[in-house]
Amino acid sequence: MISFLWAEGSNHIIGKNGNLPWHLPADMRYFKKLTTGNTIVTGRKTYLSFGKPLPNRKNMVITTSNNINDAGVLVFHSINEFIEYSKKHVDEEIFVVGGANIFEQLVPYADRLYKTEIEHDFDGDTYMPTINYDNFKLINTIPGKVDDKNIYDFNFKVFQKIK
Ligand SMILES: NC(=O)c1ccc[n+]([C@@H]2O[C@H](COP(=O)([O-])OP(=O)(O)OC[C@H]3O[C@@H](n4cnc5c(N)ncnc54)[C@H](OP(=O)(O)O)[C@@H]3O)[C@@H](O)[C@H]2O)c1
Repeated sequence: MISFLWAEGSNHIIGKNGNLPWHLPADMRYFKKLTTGNTIVTGRKTYLSFGKPLPNRKNMVITTSNNINDAGVLVFHSINEFIEYSKKHVDEEIFVVGGANIFEQLVPYADRLYKTEIEHDFDGDTYMPTINYDNFKLINTIPGKVDDKNIYDFNFKVFQKIK
């Protein structure tokens, strides 16, 4: 099963200068909780923004280059290569964690969406691609707790593809 996991602002911004436009530790914890022990897949730019493979997870990266040689990281040179591998070799949930370029190409394959909606318009340069939510059913909403470290209103939403 292929799941998307990301956070976006009210204006659909997800990135700025190669990084996240906000500081929201509660969302980082949510990301860590969902992905630890599981498989994540990123585009090359998002992978490099992490600085290193994320620990206690199987890291997969999609890139046309041969420059990513980090130990234990599985590299795919096309979307098709990734999809074929996943179908054959991965039974568990795979978390696609961005960025926009990779999300856009994988929308047709997404079975579940873990979306953090942040109620704020952010400055940025990277937008979440369009997703037709008519194809998905909202199955869970958890309101995020606003505090001095998490200053925006936010909600963790989960959508399931309608078969
Ligand atoms: N808010 C969130 O939840 C969230 C999540 C993830 C990322 N982000 C943000 O999004 C931004 C990065 O997103 P992005 O769209 O610019 O980049 P990206 O999707 O992370 O990476 C794009 C790269 O992936 C590779 N790629 C894409 N399609 C490919 C294909 N079909 N075959 C082979 N390689 C392919 C290419 O790498 P090569 O050039 O090496 O070939 C391409 O340059 C950053 O600001 C990041 O912080 C936000």
